[in-house]
Amino acid sequence: MRTQVAIIGAGPAGLLLAHLLHQHGIECVVLEAKSRHYVENRVRAGVLEHQSVDVLNEAGVGARMMKEGLLHHGIFLHFAGRSHRIDFEELTGRAVMIYGQQEVVKDLIAARLAARQPVYFDVDAVSIHDFDTGSPRVRFRMKEEQHTLECDFIAGCDGFHGVCRATVPPQQLSLYERVYPFAWLGILAQIPPASHELIYANDERGFALLSMRSPTVSRLYLQCAPEEDVEGWSDERIWNELRARLNVELPSGPVLQKSLTPMRSFVAEPMSFGRLFLAGDAAHIVPPTGAKGMNLAIADVHVLARGLESFYRPGSRPGGSAAMQALNDYSQTCLGRIWKAQRFSWWMTSLLHRFDEHTPFDRRRQLAELEYIVSSRAAAQTLAENYVGLPLSP
Ligand code: APR
Ligand code: PHB
Repeated sequence: MRTQVAIIGAGPAGLLLAHLLHQHGIECVVLEAKSRHYVENRVRAGVLEHQSVDVLNEAGVGARMMKEGLLHHGIFLHFAGRSHRIDFEELTGRAVMIYGQQEVVKDLIAARLAARQPVYFDVDAVSIHDFDTGSPRVRFRMKEEQHTLECDFIAGCDGFHGVCRATVPPQQLSLYERVYPFAWLGILAQIPPASHELIYANDERGFALLSMRSPTVSRLYLQCAPEEDVEGWSDERIWNELRARLNVELPSGPVLQKSLTPMRSFVAEPMSFGRLFLAGDAAHIVPPTGAKGMNLAIADVHVLARGLESFYRPGSRPGGSAAMQALNDYSQTCLGRIWKAQRFSWWMTSLLHRFDEHTPFDRRRQLAELEYIVSSRAAAQTLAENYVGLPLSP
């Protein structure tokens, strides 16, 4: 088998990259370890920055999102017994879109299949080779058969636990990491959202978040211990804890899904090694408090697709220095934005969670910071411009 770009992973990063490349006439093959059903039903993030919305629309895969997504013009911060609205529209002129990651994934898979382009699910034993030469290869097994995919480039879009970053010699990587001493217990529930916009609550009992997926489905989170046993949380205990922390009228309803999200900040540098490019969670993880994970994945592949498009542009000499320049800049271009999103995600996490090591001084300082944000236009605007998304290109 031969293609131009081998893409490992069919999450938002791999699938959007495949779609953008196909639009530019660049051939690619997507290899995914899990089944189509699994990736289409995996409940993940749900907030799209305004530029992510633009990227999906410009790529022609935004129609269902525009119909079914919920446009939000602000969020609520809840602390010290009161709720305060941060008005994104007024502070930045922008909004965000609430639309589940698995819906983005479904739309991208549908587009890929409609274009009759290859995406192989349930592959295993994926390994990548020779990306430090001009002719990289990917080996994998599909339906009991061993295959070799020859290509010009490999895109490692295989998430945090993928094989691509793990194959890079450790001495070529710098890793930056912070693991937080708590996790989020998340539920998807069949109840209409109890607030028309997201509520981020800093409560003495710990952080809570009210989010949603549709007018009839809510997504709710509670800060808990990192090693928490999800089964130890009965539905009733979850609803009571959410009510206590969010301070809203919250009816109980059927819980459709329950899961634990660990909280980690992580960056691997650089993001390219010869003809291997890492994108999305394969290269970086943010704690979900800033709602940046899916947006960073979209921003990375937007930059990577531009680089590959200039490499293959008719008239550019393959392997020539002009053709390689955009690709050589890929890592640096992405990392500038990634570190700003890391800073914001860390800051939102520090601002809103209960830390066991906090002294009474730290707690008062945290509340003073929240007071400052809701009473200063400059401070609120800083939060808002980061939340709706910093520019895609520097
Ligand atoms: N071979 C093939 N596929 C693999 C392999 C492998 N060895 N290892 C992992 N994968 C697949 C996973 O099954 C997954 O479907 O790669 C895909 C990676 O997708 P995501 O984890 O969704 O990562 P990404 O596309 O970068 O999207 C980032 O996901 O975790 C959220 O918050 C994060 O919203 C962000 C988004
Ligand atoms: C979600 O809806 O899943 C969600 C929303 C906002 C966040 C994190 C997750 O900050």
